[in-house]
Amino acid sequence: MQAFSLTINGNAVSVTAAADTPLLDVLRNHLGLVGTKFGCGVEQCGSCMVLVDGKPEKSCGKTLSGVAGRDIVTIEGLGTPQHSHPLQQAFLDEQAGQCGYCLPGILISAKALLDRNPAPSRGEIARALDDNICRCGSHARILRAVARAAAQMRQGDAR
Ligand code: FES
Ligand code: FES
Repeated sequence: MQAFSLTINGNAVSVTAAADTPLLDVLRNHLGLVGTKFGCGVEQCGSCMVLVDGKPEKSCGKTLSGVAGRDIVTIEGLGTPQHSHPLQQAFLDEQAGQCGYCLPGILISAKALLDRNPAPSRGEIARALDDNICRCGSHARILRAVARAAAQMRQGDAR
């Protein structure tokens, strides 16, 4: 056991755990951030995606020692019910999901995309979500929702 410092959603936190504890377990079990989901545990589904220094990463495949000192953003850092991120609002508007289990990971991947490319094509959106599996088959609505959020964010910037 060892203490590790990292930044989660803008807050400095210290976690005491084994160095090889998966980041996903740290988030869910040590910090109570259960929005990030366990799907496969072997980096195949994308439901556990978080941003690490702005890049989408599968938290089941990252160790606590590997993310020490890094800046992590989870789905809880995206928005709140009172102040939702445009991506979250667009997913609601498009009803882009059924069970919703994949959506935290998809929203994180989509945020990383829109942060680097505010006007992605449908193909670019699909490629950015390549590592995210939706078992309910909501892909078409998910692509529409990301495009809708991108358009709304561009409109907001133009105002
Ligand atoms: S739980 Fe991490 S990729 Fe599936
Ligand atoms: S909405 Fe159910 S897995 Fe995507």
